[in-house]
Amino acid sequence: MTILPSHNPNLTTTTTKPEMPHYQKHSPRSTVTATTATRTPFSFFSPKLSVYLCSICVTLFILFHIKILQTPLPSTQNSLSFLHNWQEKLINNDEPASCNHDITSMGDKLRESVTFLPLKDLRFANAALVGHTWFMSSLYDTHEEGEVQYQQFPSKSSNGRILCIKGRDNHDGSWNYYGLAYPGFLPKNATLVPGRTFVSYNHYDFGNIWHGLSALVPFVAWHLKSECAAPDRWILYHWGEVRTGMSPWLNTLMEATFNGPLNIEKFNEDGNDYEWPMCYEEAVVMRHNEGGMSREKRMEVYDLIRCKARMMCDVELDRTDNDIGLTLFMRTGPRSFRNETAVVEIFERECMKVENCRLKVAYSSNLTVCEQVKLMASTDILVSPHGAQLTNMFLMDRNSSVLEFFPKGWLKLAGVGQLVYHWIASWSGMKHQGAWRDTEGDPCPYPDDDRRCMSVYKNGRIGYNSTYFAEWASRVLNEVKMRKSEEATRGNIVPTKCACS
Ligand SMILES: *[C@@H]1O[C@H](CO)[C@@H](O)[C@H](O)[C@H]1NC(C)=O
Ligand SMILES: *[C@@H]1O[C@H](CO)[C@@H](O)[C@H](O)[C@H]1NC(C)=O
Ligand SMILES: *[C@@H]1O[C@H](CO)[C@@H](O)[C@H](O)[C@H]1NC(C)=O
Ligand SMILES: *[C@@H]1O[C@H](CO)[C@@H](O)[C@H](O)[C@H]1NC(C)=O
Ligand SMILES: *[C@@H]1O[C@H](CO)[C@@H](O)[C@H](O)[C@H]1NC(C)=O
Repeated sequence: MTILPSHNPNLTTTTTKPEMPHYQKHSPRSTVTATTATRTPFSFFSPKLSVYLCSICVTLFILFHIKILQTPLPSTQNSLSFLHNWQEKLINNDEPASCNHDITSMGDKLRESVTFLPLKDLRFANAALVGHTWFMSSLYDTHEEGEVQYQQFPSKSSNGRILCIKGRDNHDGSWNYYGLAYPGFLPKNATLVPGRTFVSYNHYDFGNIWHGLSALVPFVAWHLKSECAAPDRWILYHWGEVRTGMSPWLNTLMEATFNGPLNIEKFNEDGNDYEWPMCYEEAVVMRHNEGGMSREKRMEVYDLIRCKARMMCDVELDRTDNDIGLTLFMRTGPRSFRNETAVVEIFERECMKVENCRLKVAYSSNLTVCEQVKLMASTDILVSPHGAQLTNMFLMDRNSSVLEFFPKGWLKLAGVGQLVYHWIASWSGMKHQGAWRDTEGDPCPYPDDDRRCMSVYKNGRIGYNSTYFAEWASRVLNEVKMRKSEEATRGNIVPTKCACS
């Protein structure tokens, strides 16, 4: 995008002095060159004149950038239009050709000095998630105590520069590039994209509801801390490779949270050349998921998504029944219960012993998103095998309970990832009431702790222990019953109101 035109050839002299910004006119700290230029009596056509005017040009040029640096963040629009105004003034200001030429060439140099680096930095391939991560590895995050870690452009830390991306490759992130540019001096052939763009880095998969949610939660946190500012578009990267969609479940919840359809950048359909940068008027980049956020901040984020999801799905924000909702949330295939009938019977028996207990059995695979939102809104105790469907737990009221089940072999072999539903329970204010781990399952031809066994255990199914399940269900049911009756006697419940609405 060319803003400064090539210099105007028919200008030689000037009769008007270049206008100075008001703060310079009155400032005691005006530069020496500028004050001298206005006081010295001189004849037009003096060779000194062009030197003076040039100094003024250069001073003004520097002032643009000082102004940009000083402009507070939300007023990007202002700083941009400020820049354009001054460029126009300079251009229309009938200055000596040499001066105009200097500015033009300085602008060209600024434009050419924009350096593009690979979005995915292979030097950090062995520690892709550590420190700056391998995504935009040269840039620092902004991090205030307890808040989300993010990058924002333009900002003080970017020296007023905006984010430019040449990033439409969907196979190899090291073929995609990023750079920073001053708004008035974008690199050759760049497109300035107006509005606010959310750029998400996900180390895993936007199709998986747990990993996708983890990558998008920090944007909701930013939205909360930024007076509910919403994006005009999203750009999704996995390992620096562009992705053009996310799981429908996540898409729906994000639409609910941000009050409208997500505009996910697809790049390849715009017909622009691969090499032409897109520069974003305002961009917010996340690459650390919830990292750095305090538990309270995380809970506020999940509160907001829950609240907005219930609004969108026409579900009451506050429960009006006195039920204790016990929901068996079943899977089909891998990690389903081997004998569902037996498991349902155990929980049914315990439920019948508790007044107002109401048992529901549902399959995550055949519920719409709103049906899931509605089901969770009436659930106090979620009983479900380890798996992505458990991500729904944050849609229950706060302080609700989760019972999780694992097939044989996971404890030793599945690594820290098997704890994700303990984490999300803690982050969203739920009570993880423990996990039951099957000791029986398909045999593995190697010793039990051989890593190769994981391929056998990964898709294993889950048995049951009637004694254990019954005692467990009974304990949690009674705890929930006590909590709910305490809450009921305390009374005066404040009706829920969604933040940002
Ligand atoms: C900019 O675009 C023009 C065509 O519009 C092309 O000829 C030129 O090579 C491009 N420059 C760069 C640096 O890509
Ligand atoms: C499942 O459990 C029920 C009740 O305990 C039992 O009657 C049934 O035979 C079991 N089914 C299988 C396939 O083991
Ligand atoms: C839900 O899925 C289960 C298992 O796939 C199936 O048996 C059941 O009929 C389905 N229910 C509905 C309402 O579609
Ligand atoms: C959840 O439980 C904690 C501790 O029991 C209590 O302080 C808090 O008010 C409860 N939160 C809600 C939303 O019920
Ligand atoms: C079932 O659970 C009970 C209670 O925790 C335990 O004593 C028993 O050993 C378990 N049975 C099996 C077969 O693991």
